[in-house]
Parts: sequence; structure tokens; C-alpha cells
Amino acid sequence: MKKIKKAIIPAAGLGTRFLPETKAMPKEMLPVVDKPAIQLIVEEAIASGITDILIIIGKGKRAIEDHFDSNTELELNLESKGKDEMLKSVKETNGLNIYFKRQEHPNGLGDAVHTAKSFVGEDPFVIMLGDDLMTDETPLTKQLIDSYEETGSSTLAVMKVPHEDTSKYGVINPAKEVSDGLYDVTNFVEKPNPEDAPSDLAIIGRYLLTADIFDILENTKPGKGNEIQLTDAIDTLNKKGKVYAHEFKGDRYDTGNKFGWLQTNIEFGLKHPEVSDELKQYIKDLAKKLD
Ligand code: UTP
Repeated sequence: MKKIKKAIIPAAGLGTRFLPETKAMPKEMLPVVDKPAIQLIVEEAIASGITDILIIIGKGKRAIEDHFDSNTELELNLESKGKDEMLKSVKETNGLNIYFKRQEHPNGLGDAVHTAKSFVGEDPFVIMLGDDLMTDETPLTKQLIDSYEETGSSTLAVMKVPHEDTSKYGVINPAKEVSDGLYDVTNFVEKPNPEDAPSDLAIIGRYLLTADIFDILENTKPGKGNEIQLTDAIDTLNKKGKVYAHEFKGDRYDTGNKFGWLQTNIEFGLKHPEVSDELKQYIKDLAKKLD
């Protein structure tokens, strides 16, 4: 079985849930304490054995390209001032195999993934959404790769969400749990109303797919919101072959909406050596004032 080495990170969406901030700034570049969310996703990819990453960008997303480029002037400046720690942090993203591709119009996640066809070629690959952070002992992308190495089939990450939130996600209709946390799926439904949702297991931002998804995407008509929906293409892939759902039991942070981003920064801040003590004290003092 071929090792999975390629990942794509779709980051071409408009980020309307975070307006007006996202008018000129890509939401994937919003900071999580001191790193943009998309850098943490690249770190998860590398920790999972991925060697080649394609980031799908669109209009107004140049800051993402610049972030993964070297910045010689800044590096020389930090070096001359002996700011070694800062220099190290700036150089962390240099020299990675990161490529960029433009999605001409934000026509949906399915359309964004389709633009990656020639980058991916024939091998299975991973999709990592640019605003969805997951933390667990084993990175979620690695969990999906491990599962693929057992089954040889496409596998999506899912997570239990509150029933009333099912309308925000693609949701699975599970047929049976074939092993601990691994589901056979009858069908996939994009953003069902809670009363129609077949389960509370929602698709989250990591997918491992075989390359036959591209032919299916070519023939997928616009669905919900008049966008090419990846979930619809995955439902077809599941009918032609098999797509498993792997239940993620770690923590998920959606940095693409206002509350999710605040929550992410508080929780990552509480673990960050430079600010954790100060932040903890601040939260305690603030809680007393709010009582
Ligand atoms: P989202 O639905 O979370 O992103 O898509 P969005 O459309 O930017 O955000 P809202 O809903 O308007 O606030 C998940 C991921 O897919 C990418 C987004 O950039 C995000 O990382 N995406 C979405 C694309 O690359 N292209 C698209 O056409 C749509």
C-alpha cells in the first residue's frame, strides 16, 4: 500500500461568519496566540508524515503565501540584533514543500478540492480545512492515515455535536460500528435540519480520500447554497466503493467564527509558556468581577 504523502488545505472561502475582520484578512491567518491557524494545520500535516502540501487560495489571500515564504530582511534584522528565539520562530516555516493554487471563484469546498486534481494525481490524499484545529495525543490526520492502512478505503473524521447544531455540518447516517469508533456509512447528508438529521455524528475538517473523488466532483451538480458540495461527492463515492467515518475523540476548535476563535485563543493561551500564568490570573480576576 502506498504511503500517504500529500495534503491539500482549502483556504479560498470568503469567511463571511467573521466579517468585517475577513474583508481584507484571510480567516486562516487569524492568530492563535502567536501563530496563524493555518500554520498549526501545516504542523499537524508534517507530524502525520505528510511531505507535500497544496494550499488553495483565492482573492485577498496573498498573506498566506507571504507567511510561508522566507523574509530575508526580517531575518537579517533579527540576526544582527541577536534575537535568536524570534529568528528561530520566523524560520520554522521555511523550506517546506508548500504549493499554492487559486480557486477562481469561491464555488464551494467541492470545487476547491477539484482544483487540486493534477497536484494529487492517482494516490490517496488528505484534505485539512484551513480554519479547523484538532488536538489529540495522536494528530487526527495520522489517525486517519492509520485507519486507511488497515482498511484501504477513504475515511472521514466525524465528531459528536449537539443535535441542534447538525444543520451546520455534513452528517453521517451510520450503518454499523465496525470497530471501535469506525463506522460503515449508509449515506452522507449536507447540513440537515435537526429534525431530519440521521445522527449527531458530524463531518469535521479532516478527510482522507482516494483519487476517484475527482471524476465524481466533475459530475457533481451544485447542491446546498448553490455550491459544489464535497459531502455530495463523498456520498456518491460511498455508493461506488466505501467511505468509512472515524470518530474523533480529542478537542476541536473552529477558528472560523467569532466565538470559536476567542475560545481557541483562551485555551491555547492557557497552555502557552509565555502568557499562561498571566492569562490564568487575569481570567480569575475577571471572573470575580463578573460574579
Ligand atoms: P467554510 O464554509 O468554513 O468557509 O469552508 P467559508 O465559506 O470561508 O466561511 P463562511 O461560512 O463564509 O464563514 C471550510 C473551508 O473550505 C474553504 C474555506 O476557506 C475553509 O477553510 N473553502 C470554502 C474554499 O476553499 N473554497 C470555497 O469555495 C469554500
